[in-house]
Amino acid sequence: MKQKIAVLTGGGDCPGLNGAVKWVTKSALDSKLAEKRSVSFEVIGIAEGWRGLVEVDPDDPKSCDRYLKHLDQEIVRTWDRYGGTNLGTSRTNPFSPKNDRSDKVVENIKKLGIDVVVALGGEDTLGVAYKLHKLGVKTVGIPKTIDNDLTGTDYSLGFDTAVNVIMEEIDRLRTTAGSHSRIFVVETMGRHAGWLALHGGECSGAYIILIPEHMFDMDRVCELLQERKGREINYSIIVVSEGAKPSGQHEFLRDSKVDEFGHSSLGGIASFVAGEIEKQTGFESRHLILSHLQRGGTPSARDRLMARWFGIAAVDMIINEDFGRMVSLVRGEITSVPMKEILHKLKLVDVAKQYDTERYNGRRSIM
Ligand code: F6P
Repeated sequence: MKQKIAVLTGGGDCPGLNGAVKWVTKSALDSKLAEKRSVSFEVIGIAEGWRGLVEVDPDDPKSCDRYLKHLDQEIVRTWDRYGGTNLGTSRTNPFSPKNDRSDKVVENIKKLGIDVVVALGGEDTLGVAYKLHKLGVKTVGIPKTIDNDLTGTDYSLGFDTAVNVIMEEIDRLRTTAGSHSRIFVVETMGRHAGWLALHGGECSGAYIILIPEHMFDMDRVCELLQERKGREINYSIIVVSEGAKPSGQHEFLRDSKVDEFGHSSLGGIASFVAGEIEKQTGFESRHLILSHLQRGGTPSARDRLMARWFGIAAVDMIINEDFGRMVSLVRGEITSVPMKEILHKLKLVDVAKQYDTERYNGRRSIM
């Protein structure tokens, strides 16, 4: 029996996606493993996430050329070395209440003879995979989000590379911050969860870290900076998540656009914090939004390894007919969780255990 696996990447891109697609393809098509399996596979990539399955016209060869990519071991051989996603991505939501195209997706999957869809994404992309599963489509999920806020897994692809970018950029900033005796406020991604700011700030020795899970008080930030005055240190690095909020205020929005999943674009908190610091303390302050640099570049060793393990596990799940589930890492072991359980509850920083609300930083005691 031959089955057709379709792989797609949805939502924001990140390093590690190409590696996972490579390992889905390689393990599905492995000739040694094939001898032991009762099923053999063919693998295709769907271009541009769920948009590919909405837009493709199975009866039009040009449209199929545009949205369907034949994948084999030779094609994906070098993919794990590269960031981004060679398949392309989108934030298309086939179940959007304003424009529900889920029937079209189900029909296209049938017409194209696709047996299983492997979806790589965060809560939105996997939410679609779960809804399709409920409609009878066989789906398997692979976790990816630089925010690392997916519940049910200790790791999501892209996070480690992004933390490394934050650390490297802060290392660079320190020299100029020191030369000019300035405060630098660095804005990271992290819409709802502060993992990027917390881990990025902790590993680069930031003086203050502000996260969405704990509203901050601007006076306290200034007080902490004043406490340093007179000491040898003449500059400070502050890391702030894009979703962090000053007491009594909402998140800062970059613009008024909302995507098909109902998310606004966040941005601007670093500029606010830097401005307030100058106003309240007179310390010269600058801000930097790391933005999409955090999603760029080549995958770190950890992202390459996790991509490999997740990709292989996804194929094992197909063979075991574990559909409607997401591959996950729990306490160092690869396992899987029902996609239903990961929706509508993000994995947030546990402020009581992991954040120092006095110093606005990671904790210095784990007791
Ligand atoms: O995928 C989540 C994320 O990394 C968020 O932290 C951020 O708000 C968002 O992506 C921005 O993505 P884009 O600009 O591509 O819509």
